[in-house]
Amino acid sequence: MSDPNDLRTLWDEAWQHLSRGVADARHPARYPTFATVSPEGMPEARTVALRAASQSAARVEVHTDISTAKIRALQATPFAALHVWIPRADLQIRLGARVDILTGPEVEAQWSKVPPASRVSYGTEPAPGVPITHVYDYEKPPTRERFAVLACHLISVDLVHLGGRHRRALYVAKDCWQGTWVAP
Ligand SMILES: Cc1cc2nc3c(=O)[nH]c(=O)nc-3n(C[C@H](O)[C@H](O)[C@H](O)COP(=O)(O)O)c2cc1C
Repeated sequence: MSDPNDLRTLWDEAWQHLSRGVADARHPARYPTFATVSPEGMPEARTVALRAASQSAARVEVHTDISTAKIRALQATPFAALHVWIPRADLQIRLGARVDILTGPEVEAQWSKVPPASRVSYGTEPAPGVPITHVYDYEKPPTRERFAVLACHLISVDLVHLGGRHRRALYVAKDCWQGTWVAP
């Protein structure tokens, strides 16, 4: 039987963790694994930093360099999965999302808040993943034009809570996030 109160509580808890991740660099939700599908159909996963999370909009945000492989992947298949494990809460959070790649004037607000020391994450030369002769044969000029916001519009949220008895809940956008218990 679904208990709508418990489903709501677990849903709110997951969003609290995501918000904490945005605010607190030491919280495990700060660094989700972000998975995409390469143009060749291969799964790809990497660590990213969670930059925004809105429960009301069911949206999370990641920042990246437009020259990275994940952008090519998202241009071919505009979907991603994000994964977080919160050890202290015994909670796994998995998000499925459709991703919009935002650049240019529409990301001015986000760029203006990137600290100068962090701006070097956007603009590595040669581009990330390009072979280099020596280990430090690269430069990191901050490059505004390379800054992209990945707006992740959530489609599904799968929560697994490990307890005396495990609980797993699935929430989907098309059911207005009401959620249902599923077998763990
Ligand atoms: C702790 C940590 C945080 C990271 N945060 C980001 C990030 O927010 N955005 C990003 O594009 N890459 C981030 N990276 C680097 C990626 O994991 C990855 O190496 C890079 O984006 C290139 O990935 P790709 O070639 O698969 O696109 C982070 C890496 C680590 C270890």
